[in-house]
Amino acid sequence: MAKKPFRVGMIGYGFMGRAHTNAYKQVGQFFPGEHEVVLKAACARDAAKAQAFADQWGYETIETDWRKLVERPDIDAVDICVPNNLHAEMAVAAARAGKAILCEKPLAMNAAEGRTMVAAVEAAKVPNMVWYNYRRIPAVSLAKKLIDEGRLGKVFHYRAKFLQDWTIKSDLPQGGQGLWRLDAAAAGAGVSGDLLAHCIDTALWFNGRLDSVCAMTEVFVKERPHNLTGKMEAVTIDDACLFFGKFANGSLANFESTRYARGHKAQYTFEINGEDMSIAWDLHDLHRLQIFDYKDEGKIRGWKSVHVTDNSPDHPYMANWWVPGLAIGYDSSFTHQVADFLAGLGSGKPASPTFRDALETQLVLDAILDSAKSQRWKTVEQA
Ligand SMILES: NC(=O)c1ccc[n+]([C@@H]2O[C@H](COP(=O)([O-])OP(=O)(O)OC[C@H]3O[C@@H](n4cnc5c(N)ncnc54)[C@H](O)[C@@H]3O)[C@@H](O)[C@H]2O)c1
Repeated sequence: MAKKPFRVGMIGYGFMGRAHTNAYKQVGQFFPGEHEVVLKAACARDAAKAQAFADQWGYETIETDWRKLVERPDIDAVDICVPNNLHAEMAVAAARAGKAILCEKPLAMNAAEGRTMVAAVEAAKVPNMVWYNYRRIPAVSLAKKLIDEGRLGKVFHYRAKFLQDWTIKSDLPQGGQGLWRLDAAAAGAGVSGDLLAHCIDTALWFNGRLDSVCAMTEVFVKERPHNLTGKMEAVTIDDACLFFGKFANGSLANFESTRYARGHKAQYTFEINGEDMSIAWDLHDLHRLQIFDYKDEGKIRGWKSVHVTDNSPDHPYMANWWVPGLAIGYDSSFTHQVADFLAGLGSGKPASPTFRDALETQLVLDAILDSAKSQRWKTVEQA
C-alpha cells in the first residue's frame, strides 16, 4: 500500500537540525509505518548555508524566510530547531497555517508565551510535540514502565542533575551564533531552561506534578563580551541552578544543573527512591538502568545493572534495532520520538509530550526562577 507522505519543513540547521534530520532519515528503515517522511525544505537566513545543509542532508528545496516556509502548501509539518526566543512566533504562525508542529525544548521563553502556543495549536487542532527526547532512551522508557507498574511502591525521593563544564572560561563571549545560550534575550534563561528543563520533563512524566519549589541560582562570571554588540555586558542567564521541591504525591525533589562542574560534559542523572525499589540512570551510560529491588530474595539482594538492549518487547524500542546486547545511542532517542509522533497521527492518541504537557515544565521553570529571585518557596501554577 502506498504510504502517506509526511513532508517536513525544517527551520535551523544546527545541532538539533542535524539530530532531527538524522531521525527523519532513519525512521522509515527502523520503524516503518503508514507514513513516509519527505525532507521537503530546509530554512535558514543565509541561502548558501541553507543550500549546503539541504545538499548534505537531502532536503529537496530551501527557504531563507521561515514565514514563507510555514505557508507552503507542500509542507505538512514544521520542525522548529532555532533559539528559544523564536519558538513562539514560529509555532503560532505554523499552527495558523494548519501545519503539524514539532518544536524544540524548552517550549518557550516563559509560561506566558507557552500558554499562547498551547492555545494556538489547540485552536487549530494541529498535531504538536516538543522534543524532550530523553524520554525515549530505552533505559529511561523502561524506568517509566517500572514506575507505571507500581514496582517502586510509595516514592520518597526524586534526585536529578544535569552537569556540564563548557562555560568556565571567563573570556568566553555571550550571544550570537553558537553562543545564544548565554544570552537571556535569545535563551530566556540559562541552565534552568536549557538543562533542568529535561530533568523536569522526565520527573513530571515519571512522578507527577511538582507542587512547590525553592530555588537558588548563581552567575559565576558576571560580565562577558557580547558577540552582537561587541561590548562587555552583564550576564543575565543563570550559570547554575539548584532547587528543592515537593511533588503532589508527597515525595521530595532535589535538582541541580550547572555549566561549571569541571570534568562533566553532559551528565544527566536521576535516582528515584521508593519503598520497594530504587532506580537510577546516567546519560553517560545511557543503555543501563540501575535497579535495587527490595523484594528480591535477601541473599541475592543488591543493585543490579540492567543492560537495556534485549530485542524482546520488555526493552522498549529495542526489537526494531540490532541483536540483543548491542547498544544504540543518543541519536536513536530522536528516531523513537519521530516514530511515536507518526504513529500518533490520526490514531487519536498523540505522542507526548504535547505542547500542553511541555507547558507544565515551563510553569515549573517560571516558579524556580521566581523563587530564586525572591528567595522564597513558590507554588507551581496549574496549566
Ligand atoms: N532536545 C535536546 O536535547 C536539545 C539539544 C540541544 C538544543 N535543543 C534546543 O534546540 C533549539 C536549537 O538549539 P541548537 O543546539 O540546535 O542551536 P544551534 O545554535 O546549533 O542552531 C540554531 C539554528 O537556528 C538558526 N536560526 C537562528 N535564527 C533563525 C531565523 N530567524 N530563521 C531561521 N533560522 C534561524 C541558526 O542559523 C542555526 O542553524 C533550542 O531551542 C535548544 O534549546 C534541544
